[in-house]
Amino acid sequence: MNRKQLIKKYLEFFESKGHKIIPNASLIPKDDPTVLFTTAGMHPLTPYLLGQKHPLGKRLVNVQKCIRTTDIEEVGNKTHHTFFEMLGNWSLGDYWKKDAIEYSFEFLTKVLKINPKKISITCFIGDKDAKKDTESSDIWKSIGIKKIKFLGKKDNWWGPAGKTGPCGPDSEMFIDGIEIWNDVFMQYNKTKKGKYESLKQKNVDTGLGVERTLVIPNNLKDNYLTETFLPIIKKIEQLSGKKYKENEKAMRIIADHIKASVFIIADGVLPSNTEQGYVLRRLIRRAIRYGRELGIKDFTSKVAQPVFEIYDDYEELKDNLKNVYIFKTLKEEEGKFNLTLEKGLNVMKKEFFNKAIGRIDPENPPKGMVIEGNKLRIKGEKVFYFSQSFGFPLELTQEIMKEWGVEFDKQTMKEAQKAFQTHQKLSRTASRGVFGSGLADHSEQTTKLHTATHLLNQALREVLNKNIMQKGSNITPERLRFDFNFPRKLTEKEIKKVEDLVNKKISQRLKVTNEEMPLKKALASGISSEFNAKYPDIVSVYNIGDFSKEICTGPHVKNTNEIKKFKIIKEESSAAGIRRIKAVVG
Ligand code: SER
Repeated sequence: MNRKQLIKKYLEFFESKGHKIIPNASLIPKDDPTVLFTTAGMHPLTPYLLGQKHPLGKRLVNVQKCIRTTDIEEVGNKTHHTFFEMLGNWSLGDYWKKDAIEYSFEFLTKVLKINPKKISITCFIGDKDAKKDTESSDIWKSIGIKKIKFLGKKDNWWGPAGKTGPCGPDSEMFIDGIEIWNDVFMQYNKTKKGKYESLKQKNVDTGLGVERTLVIPNNLKDNYLTETFLPIIKKIEQLSGKKYKENEKAMRIIADHIKASVFIIADGVLPSNTEQGYVLRRLIRRAIRYGRELGIKDFTSKVAQPVFEIYDDYEELKDNLKNVYIFKTLKEEEGKFNLTLEKGLNVMKKEFFNKAIGRIDPENPPKGMVIEGNKLRIKGEKVFYFSQSFGFPLELTQEIMKEWGVEFDKQTMKEAQKAFQTHQKLSRTASRGVFGSGLADHSEQTTKLHTATHLLNQALREVLNKNIMQKGSNITPERLRFDFNFPRKLTEKEIKKVEDLVNKKISQRLKVTNEEMPLKKALASGISSEFNAKYPDIVSVYNIGDFSKEICTGPHVKNTNEIKKFKIIKEESSAAGIRRIKAVVG
C-alpha cells in the first residue's frame, strides 16, 4: 500500500461513516498567537472544539501536514520526524468513545488488515483530577483486545496545550511497540484555577501518523524506507557516495530537515532570527552540519528535489516559479551559513591561536580554555558563545576541537547546557506562550486585535486600493501584525487616513455578526479572503456592520466599540511587494 492509497482509504472509510473532508490547512496557524506551527490536525479546528458550530457538521476527517520541533533531538531514529502527515477524524459533540474506538479498530483490522493480536493499547490510569478510563478499556476488551496497559497523565492525557481549555484522557494504539494512533477524548475543561470540569460538548480528536502506519502493510522496520523518505535517502547516498546503512542518523536528519524546510518555505516563511523563520533556519543549518559529517557541500537544494515528486499531490509544491524560489531560498541560506562558518572559524583561530607559533599554545592556555591534568579543555561557556555569535552547533565546535587536540568532555557539555538553559529561560519569558502548542487561549485582548485586523484590512482596501489582500496575520496579546500586497511604502498621510477610518468604525459601534455560506458565493460576492488560503466548501463569514465582510473562523468582539482605540505603530516592508503593519488597540 502506498501513501496516496493509505490517505484515500482513510478518507473514504470515514466518509462512509458520515464524516466530511476538511482541507489540509497551512503549516502556519491563522490568527493563533500561541503556536508557531500546525502541530496536529485538531489545530485549525480550535474554535469548533471550543463549541462554535462547524459549517460542515459534527463529523470531520482529513489529512493534515504538521511540523513538530519539540522532539527534534529524537529525529535520527526510525520513527521521529519534524514534518509528518497526520490522518484525523473528529466528533464535535457527536459520537463518543464506543464509536471512536470501534472505528479505529475496524480501520486497523479490516482496511489495513492488521492482525488484532498485534495491537496493544494504553488507557488513562486515573488521578486526583479525573477518574480511570475504564470506559475505554472496557470497549477495547469487548472487541477482543487483550494487551491493555494503564498509564498516567504523561502518556495518556492530551491537552490543554495552553494553560486552560478542553483536554482529556486518550487511548493510544501500538503495533509492534510503536505508537501509531491516538484517540483523544476531550471531556474536561481545565480552568484557570487548575480544576478539571466536565465539558458540555464532548469531542473526539484522533491522529494517525501516515509515515509510521505505512511501514506496517509494507513490512518495513524503518519509516525512512517508506516512499515518503526513500527517494530523498537515495539522493543523499548518491551525492555523498556513502551507504544509508552505515550513516543512518546523519542521512535521516538531513532527509527529515530538508523535507520540513521545503514545506515551511512553501507556506511563505523565510529563514530569519525570529519565530517560524528561526525554526526554518535551525532546520537547514542542522541539515548542513550533518552534511559536513557525510562530506557533502552545496547539497540542500539537490536533496530537496525528490520532495516535490513524493508530494506531487500538494498544490503548493506544483508551481514551477515557486519551486525555483524554494530551491533558491535553500541555496542562499546554505551560502550564508557557509560564510558564517568561515567567519566563526577565523574568529576562533584569532582567539585561540598564539600568533607567534600559529597554533594553540598548550603552555599558555588562551581565554576560554583550561589546563586539567595534562590536557587542555575548552569551557562550555565559550562553546555557548560560539553558538550564539556564529550559529555554531555544539557538535561543530566539538569537531573542530578534536582536530586541534583540545578536550571537549562531559564537563564542557554540562557548562554549555547550563549557559543554554539560562539563555532559554530569558528568551522564553520574552516570547511567552509562542512556543506552546494546541488550543489557543483566546483572551479578550487577542479577540479585540482580531476584529481590529478585519477593520484594518477593509480600511486599507478603501484608502489604498480594493485589490489588497491579506498575505499573513499574526496576533499576540500585545499587538497585531498584518501583511498585505502593496508595492511601495505608505505615506504618513495614508497611514493617518487608514488609522482614522478604523477609529471612525470603532466609534460607530458597529455590530459584528456571523453567517455561513457556500465558498463560491462568498468569493463571487467579493468577500475578503486570504491570499492562497484553502477553505472548505461552506465557510463562515464575519460582517462588521456593512463595512467589512471576511471569511473567518473567529473569535471576534460583539461590537466594535469594545476595541476603544486603534493605533498603527509600524509600517515596513515584509518581502518584495508585501508591506507589513503592526498595530495596537485599547
Ligand atoms: N491531537 C492529538 C495528537 O496530536 C490527536 O490528534 O496526538
